Order: sequence, then C-alpha cells, then structure tokens
Amino acid sequence: MSERPVCAFLWLIWLFLTSFLWRCLFAVLWCCQYTPNPNSTLCPTLHDREPQKAVGGEGRVHRVMESTLTARDRVGVQDFVLLENYTSEAAFIENLRRRFGEKLIYTYIGSVLVSVNPYKDLEIYSKAHMERYRGVSFYEISPHIYAVSDNTYRAMRTERRDQCILISGESGAGKTEASKKILQYYATTCPVTDHMSTIRDRLLQSNPVLEAFGNAKTLRNDNSSRFGKYMDVQFDFRGAPIGGHILNYLLEKSRVVHQNHGERNFHIFYQLLEGGEQDQLSKLGLERNAQKYHYLVKVCVCVCGCCPRVSSINDKSDWKTVRKALTVIGFHEEEVEDLLNIIASVLHLGNTQFGEGEDGETQITTEPQLTYLSKMIGPLSFEQAVAARDALAKAVYGRAFTWLVAKINQSLAFKDEVYNSSKGSSSVIGLLDIYGFEVFQHNSFEQFCINYCNEKLQQLFIKLTLKSEQEEYEAEGITWEPVKYFDNKIICDLVEEKHKGFISILDEECLRPGEPSDISFLEKLEDTLGGHAHFVTHKLANGKTRKAVGREEFRLIHYAGEVNYTVNGELANQSVICQSDNQILSQCFNREEVTTQKRPETAATQFKNSLAKLIEILMSKEPSYVRCIKPNDAKQSGRFDEALVRHQVKYLGLMENLRVRRAGFAYRRRYEAFLQRYKSLCPGTWPNWQGRLADGVATLVQHLGYKPEEYKLGKTKIFIRFPKTLFTTEDALEARRPALALTLQTSWRGYRERAKYHRIRNAVIQSAWRGMKSRRKARRRRHAAEIIRKFIKGFIYRHYERCPENEYFLDHQRFSFLMTLVRNPPKSVLDKSWPVPPPSLTEASEHLCRLCMQNMMRAYCRRIQPEWKKQMEQKVVASQIFQDQKDSYPQSVPKLFVASRLGREFNLKVIQTLGNDKVKYGVAVTKYDRRGYKARPRQLLLTSSFAVLVAEAKLKQRIDYAALRSISVSSLTDGFMVLHVPSEDNKQKSDVVLQCDHVIEVVTKLATMADKKNKVNISQDSIKFAVARGKEGVIDFTSGPELKVAKGKKGHLLVTAPQLNPR
Ligand SMILES: Nc1ncnc2c1ncn2[C@@H]1O[C@H](COP(=O)(O)OP(=O)(O)OP(=O)(O)O)[C@@H](O)[C@H]1O
Ligand SMILES: [Mg+2]
Repeated sequence: MSERPVCAFLWLIWLFLTSFLWRCLFAVLWCCQYTPNPNSTLCPTLHDREPQKAVGGEGRVHRVMESTLTARDRVGVQDFVLLENYTSEAAFIENLRRRFGEKLIYTYIGSVLVSVNPYKDLEIYSKAHMERYRGVSFYEISPHIYAVSDNTYRAMRTERRDQCILISGESGAGKTEASKKILQYYATTCPVTDHMSTIRDRLLQSNPVLEAFGNAKTLRNDNSSRFGKYMDVQFDFRGAPIGGHILNYLLEKSRVVHQNHGERNFHIFYQLLEGGEQDQLSKLGLERNAQKYHYLVKVCVCVCGCCPRVSSINDKSDWKTVRKALTVIGFHEEEVEDLLNIIASVLHLGNTQFGEGEDGETQITTEPQLTYLSKMIGPLSFEQAVAARDALAKAVYGRAFTWLVAKINQSLAFKDEVYNSSKGSSSVIGLLDIYGFEVFQHNSFEQFCINYCNEKLQQLFIKLTLKSEQEEYEAEGITWEPVKYFDNKIICDLVEEKHKGFISILDEECLRPGEPSDISFLEKLEDTLGGHAHFVTHKLANGKTRKAVGREEFRLIHYAGEVNYTVNGELANQSVICQSDNQILSQCFNREEVTTQKRPETAATQFKNSLAKLIEILMSKEPSYVRCIKPNDAKQSGRFDEALVRHQVKYLGLMENLRVRRAGFAYRRRYEAFLQRYKSLCPGTWPNWQGRLADGVATLVQHLGYKPEEYKLGKTKIFIRFPKTLFTTEDALEARRPALALTLQTSWRGYRERAKYHRIRNAVIQSAWRGMKSRRKARRRRHAAEIIRKFIKGFIYRHYERCPENEYFLDHQRFSFLMTLVRNPPKSVLDKSWPVPPPSLTEASEHLCRLCMQNMMRAYCRRIQPEWKKQMEQKVVASQIFQDQKDSYPQSVPKLFVASRLGREFNLKVIQTLGNDKVKYGVAVTKYDRRGYKARPRQLLLTSSFAVLVAEAKLKQRIDYAALRSISVSSLTDGFMVLHVPSEDNKQKSDVVLQCDHVIEVVTKLATMADKKNKVNISQDSIKFAVARGKEGVIDFTSGPELKVAKGKKGHLLVTAPQLNPR
C-alpha cells in the first residue's frame, strides 16, 4: 500500500472517532446529572437563589442540579423555602425535627443557615469534610457551616467586599461552637506562609483564653459565653489570614460576685485553683480549694458543694490549654503574673468580710492586713460596704477582661507596614457570636441590653434581606411585590430615641442631682412612654396584663415576644461606680476617669453607643446568617423538645424570615441551568436548544403547562413562585429518566462495540502498515550497504586496470566528473577553470577542454562585429609590437583605437592637395626640429600610401611608406617617435622626430598601413636619428617624475618620461 492513501484513511478514521467521542462524552456527562453524588462537582444542586452569594458557582450550577429535590421525601427539605406549607410553624418545626432525627442538623432558609445543636460529636467536621466543601458552590452540596464559611470566603475573594457572618441563638444553641468551626475552616483551608501561620495560631488560640475569662457554666450551657464577641479576620490578596481584631460587648460582670444555684463563676478562677502550680498559688495567697472562696461558692446552697466541679469540664487540662494559648498569643510572664494577681485579688476581695465596729461603723473583720480597706471604703453602712466591695470586684474583673481583649488585639494586629500602606488589597470576614433573645422569670438590666441588641440585629436583618431581595427583582426586571413584615424600628426607637427613649430617661434619672430611686424612674418612664404600643407597666396596663406585670416591673413588647424587666436595682447598677469617691479606684482605673468633671456615661449609654458602632460595622459588610437552635434544655443528644424549639423559632424570627424569602418566588434559576436540566421534557428543547436561552425556557415551560401566575421570566433567570410547580417538573423528569437511561445505555453500548471494532481494525491496519514500512526500510538499507561496500572496494582498487572490483568506483568517478562538467562548464573564453579529471579520463578531458574552448571561441567570433574585428586586429598588431616592450602599452590596452583623432579639423585645402589619396587617420603631433629641437604643432595625416605632416593649411613633409625605413620609439612612457627616412633621398627631408599623446595608436596604424610592423624599433635609453648629410642626432630617455623635454649639453634631446605609478 502506498503511504499517502493509508494516511488519508487513518485520518478519516480519526475524524470519525473524535466526533463520535465528543458525542459520547456529552452523553456521559448528561448521564451524570442523573446520578446524584454529593461529593462530585457534577452532582446536582438545588438552585442559585442568592445572586449576591452564588459566587463562582454560576458557571457550575447549570451542570449541577437539585440533588436535594431528589432526596426531599426522605429527610424533609434541606431548604425551608421548599416547604409547601411555608406559613405553618408546625410544618417548619416538623421539617427541623425530621432532619434532626436523621442527624441532619443544618437546614437553609435561602442563604440563612439554621443549625440545631446535636449535643454530640457528629464527625462532620473533619479535614476531609472541609475539603469537600472547599471551593464548592453553596447549593451543590448539603447544608453545612463549612458551606457558609466557604461561600463567604469566596465572595470576599471574588467580589473583594468585606463579609460578616452573624451567628445568633439562645444560650447553649451552639453559637460559639459554630464560630469556632468557621475559624477552624479558614485556618485549615486558607493558604498560609510561615509568618502567617503565627497569626493563624494566635487567632485560634484567642478562643480558649477568651473563653476562660469570659465563659462560665450556667444552667443552660456548661460553657456559656458571658459576653458578646465580634471578631474580624483579615485576609490578604492571596486569601491568607493575616490579622484579626476582636470587639467585646457587655461582659456579665455580676457573675463575678453572684451566681445562681447550679452555676459557676468564670472558668478562669477554677482553672487557676485546679491547675495552677502550688508555688504560684502560695505566691498569690490562694488555696487549691474553690470551696474556700466566697465568690465561687457563696450562693451555692448545694449540700454536696459540687458546683465548682462540673463533669463536662476539666479545669486542670483547660488551665494547661489556657497557659499555652497565652504564650502563643505572646503574653510575657510578667503580664500573665499581673493577670493572675488580678484574679487572685478578686477572690481575696470576695473573702473580705465586714463587721460592725463599736461605734456602729463597718469594719473588715477578716484579714487584719486589709483593715486599711475599710478605712478607705470609708463610713458606709454594712450593705453599702458589701455593695462597694462587690462593685469593685466586678469593675476590676471587667477592666481586666477589657485589657485582655486589647492585649489579644495587639497580638493579632497585622504589623507589616508595607502591607498596611496598601490596605485596599486586604479583605475582612467578621464573625459575630452574640447572645440571643433572653426571657427569664426575672429580667434585669443585662437581659434588657441583650434583647435590645437582638432588636437592632433583627432590624439590620430585615433591612438587608429585603433590600437584596428587591435588588434582585429590579435587576431581573420583575415587578416587586411588597411583603408585609413587622418593622421593629418602633421598638428600637422606644429604647434609643434621643430625649424620649428609655436609655435617655435612664441617663437623666441616674445623673440628676439628688437620690435616684427605682420608683421615681418607673414613674418617669410611665410619664414619657405611657401610651406607646410596646411599653406597658402595672399602672398603665389593665385587666389580665396588669396581673402579669409586677409593680416594680415594666414590660417591653419585643418583636420576638413580651418581656418583663424589673427596675429593682437598675439605678444602683448604673451609678454605684460612677458616684463612688473611693481612692482605691484611682489605682485600678484611669485617674482622669474618676476626677473628670464630665458627666460619666451610664452603662446603658455605653452599650447603646457600642451597639451603634457594631451595626455600622455590619452594615458596611455583606452579611451571612447562622441561626442556632437548642433542641432541649437537658443538653441531651437526640432529644427534640418541640415547645422549646417553637419558642426559639419564634424568637429568632425564622418564620418571618421564611415568609420574606417566599413572598416573592420560591425559586430562581439561571436560564442555562434550568434548560440544561429539564430540556429532555420537551421535544422542542431536546436534545439541544439552538436559539436564545429565554426563548428555550419559554418553550419548555409552555410545554410543561406552567400557568402565568406560577412563574416569571426575568432577564437572565426564571422565577418560579411555588415549590409545587418545580416538584411537578422534577417528578416529570424522574418519570422520563428510565427512557433516557435506556437510550443512553443503547448509545453507550453501541459506541463501546464500535470503538472495540475500530480498535481491532486499526490494530490490523497499523501492523500491516508498519510491516510494509519496515520491509521497505530494510531493503533500502541493504541496497545502501551494498553500494558503500562497492565504493570502498573500488577506492582500494582505483589504481588498477579496470576490473570487476573497481568498475563501479571508476564509473562513478567518471560519471561524477562528467556531471560536474555538465553542471559547471567554463563560462567564457577567458574562464580557464576545468574540473580535475580522474586518471582514466585525462586524455578525454583534454580533448573535451579543447573542444569546449574551440566551441566557445567559434561562438565568440561569430558574434563579433566588423568594427570590433578591425579594432581587435589593430590591438593584436599593437600587442605584437609593444607588449612587454613599452611601458605605456598596458595602459593603452583598454583604450580603444579610433578612426581619426582630428574629426572635422581637416583643412579643406590640404584635402584638395592630397587629391585622390584619402586621409585614413589624422592626429595632432608635436614635431621637433632636428637641429634646435624646437617644438612645432603639426597634424600627422595617414593615407593609404604615405604620411604627411601638415602645419595649418600647408603640407610640410610627405613621407612615402615605401621610403619609410623604420620607426623608433622608446621603451618608456613618453610619446616620442622617430620616423626614419633615407636622407639621401632628396624627396624626403630626412628623419622626423614627433611626439604624440597616442603614440601606440599612431605607430600601430602607421606600421599597419605602411606594412612596417617589423620595422618598429623600441630603444631602451636613446634613439639616434639622421639630421642631414651624415649628421646624427640623439634623443636620450630617462625616467622621471614628469615629462620633460630639454636640450642636452652634447646637443642631445633629453626626454624625461614620467614614471608609472607602482601598482
Ligand atoms: N455543632 C455541634 N456539635 C456538637 N456539639 C455542639 C455543637 N454545637 C454546640 N455543641 C454543644 O453545645 C454546647 C453549647 O454550645 P455553645 O457554647 O456554642 O453555645 P452558645 O450558643 O455559644 O451559648 P452561650 O450563648 O451560652 O454562649 C457546646 O459546649 C457543645 O457541647
Ligand atoms: Mg457562646
């Protein structure tokens, strides 16, 4: 088979195969959509509901669809938006319960993550899990805290916009755990360099330290955060964590001096007593027994005294963790010591007891060395002294906590100045772990602050959710249908409005001159806020409500429910530190703070201001929400207390959230994604839609029988109002699957068999082709080896007579000689190049060379013109006479001889005198007299039989050629010539001495015409010539720089001929 057709054939096979492969690849990909695999990026996902959050996922979403829809019946819905009966709280809770039962603790409401505390390790937080969620689009995979973390991170990176994750829920719902999981996710999955790993470790280690100082065991949570925390994690342009900052809110300082039954003080006290070295404790004056400290066991009425010890807490090992964390964060030993001194001093302060002195004054009755304390606290009643001590302890602890946060912030701050100068390139993710709505039997100022905080966050949530929803509808050109929701701004205003709000009234009452009292404060509230729809007191209420509100209480109707707050002690809390003039405070606190004349801010105002700042921070960021729910009060795994959950669903405003989310459309999906998934349901769109995507979707939904109220088509997305519509479509797809699968299977099998057949056929063709090629190659090699062998042998025998051994070599030599000659023959008659012939061809080569030259010469001669021939003949004569004889000859060779040098200068008279003898050549010459060597200008005319010298119109001398004996010239460059004529001939005037610029030409022409070529004498030094009657003249020639003619001493004519320039 020849090479070319085989190539073409193989190429055709390849073309066929590749086109078929593409089709099959497409079929396989398409098939993959129907095998949901939560790990695969090809796995179906739910939908792209949040435009601002579907970062990087859009491209992939169209390939990956609703795995959740497929699994919806098994484990409820993984997005509450899919709930058909979305207004039913029962359906909502049932969905949570079912999923919780299946250990699915996470569910979405759109982009909001609802998390139910499992109270056990579910093993869903491993590194492998993190990797599964890393870089995967939000809806491609089941709901998880990592999905929210990753989505937020990618949104920050791709949109370069600061993000925040707001975690809320009641105590024990899992907020702190969630925030730690998020931080761990970033620490594990974000890129880090060596330097950054320090920051990463510090970020992680800040948690145990803050938890030790700010967390405590409560009835609701063994590790309850008793402060609000907002933490910024700063990332660089590569997405690596490079710094952080923590803001703390309202530490529950009252816990330092008082804990409810079954609760504990802050962990650090027990950790120090349990885990601290004996030396250290002695130095601090402490004993390893929490029972000894009033602030740690004071209120505990537990007979066994078990409160300090909690089974779920290991204070000893926690102490080690905290000590290590303090080192990682960068605390110096002295700083740690100072911190522990403060902790110890608080414990000592708690143990300080008072008694009444002789004259009724209060004295410290415990440690004698503390007597000074009583002096400094001054003349106070027993209750006042206890309150002052406790206030001092709280303040000291509170300030120490604030200092601790500031110190951690210093260590987390990113210090690279180069980087700081280009801050624009970094981005931030904020984590807000803040107390949820709280309602107790007795709600104090702290509950008020917490609930106020929740009101503010709810406000923010409403604003941002509605805003983003509306933005999307606007962007898609869908008419926005306003959603009715309760705007809690009215409650926020009730609390914080200037002059009229709760906090303003509290400030006023607290700081006015005179004794502030709780009752006067309540009256003031009634005066100012009476009539407000969300404010009730015992006096203002009537009927049933009046019974529910105590006389020392006021009720606020929050968005999440009604809460009665007691005013008892409200003012005392606010003012005891502000008004104290105790000098000890000046050592612990900023002196300016105590001595300043400025009205100090009350705790309520401070809280209000810090909250306003927090809202400002959150507003500047793109928010994500995690709503934590506590399934039971017993901290038990697997128990789902419906009443408790319902309570939280209400307080977290989840139903409201869902209603807002569903008010518009349950689904929105980009056209390409929708079409890609459901195109098989409509013959018009199957297998591929060629036109505009919007038209394709319109065709599809028309075919599916969607009613106009069920959907709307936006610019890039289809919006489906009810989940039912989508489920029906999904069911149709389910029903279509077997047929599609069969088609795919058939195609696949067909493809597989064809591929196999082609493979075999290709293999056969290929082996035949390769065999042929190899055989051909081997043949060529053999032949080549044969020739080389012959050649070598021939070379060895080249000098022998022709014989079989050398005949190939000799032939080759001849052949190559002849071929060289053919390819490079001599180019012209002057080209003497000729290739060297092999010895056997030497003679033939000479013949050839001669023949070649003759040929070329003949051709040359044939081409030559008559004038040129004449010229050449004259030049030949000149060369015969002068070559190698006269110095000026070489210069004359290239100069052409001319017919005459005189042109029209012939004198007519002279012509007439000459009669029939035509002048054949004329030239201007200088004639030298024979005697005096006087130079005279003449013309020398040559006719066919004589030469004449003419002076103007006169014929001066005629020299018959027959009489011309010879012509003499010198061998130098001069132009002298002597025409020798017999002096005895009377007709002739004796020898003539002439000088001419064209002596070679003149002599050649004269010698030719006179046929005296052999009579030209070329003398070296001198020419003798006959003067007259036997007398002789001599011309002496010498070489000199220039031509000179002069008469010599002996009567000789001296001619200096110019020397030729040496070449
Ligand atoms: N995802 C989880 N997996 C396993 N256990 C969890 C999870 N979330 C929370 N818990 C358990 O619940 C306890 C309480 O959680 P956490 O401290 O996070 O609550 P919280 O909402 O921060 O409460 P508080 O407002 O009192 O600080 C944790 O100590 C832990 O035992
Ligand atoms: Mg917490």
